[in-house]
Amino acid sequence: MEQTLSIIKPDAVAKNVVGKILSRFEDAGLRIAATKKIQLSQADAEAFYAIHAERPFFKDLVEFMISGPVVVTVLEGDSAMSKNRDLMGATNPAEAEAGTIRADFAESIDANAVHGSDSVENAVNEISFFFAQREIN
Ligand code: CMP
Repeated sequence: MEQTLSIIKPDAVAKNVVGKILSRFEDAGLRIAATKKIQLSQADAEAFYAIHAERPFFKDLVEFMISGPVVVTVLEGDSAMSKNRDLMGATNPAEAEAGTIRADFAESIDANAVHGSDSVENAVNEISFFFAQREIN
């Protein structure tokens, strides 16, 4: 069964919409195989987003991701990676389709409510960044 990683970002956690976002995953047929609320350190955020290290938005992205706790979740189901990306909507909430998580809960391209793995291969790496095998059930 395919798995993918979701992060509910500090803006959505602060808005108290964690349950609403997790329900969207379940309502779409995805199963929560693991979930936890954590405070990322600067080193955590820099390592997780290392692929973006050279991008102009990297510093702001890291600062934002450590501004409060996040909820990291392993989602499981048929086509979990692409299904999660459909549920999230476009990276920039201004371009996100109505009814998507980012259209409904996000404010800006930085405070965009959720992250989701962008390939099945990246999902494997992102899941192991946050979870031990015994935490995924
Ligand atoms: P995410 O899916 O978490 O991956 C990297 C994040 O960088 C992205 O969501 C956005 O929140 C943030 N970001 C800020 N500016 C940009 C940009 N111009 N292009 C892509 N991502 C951006």
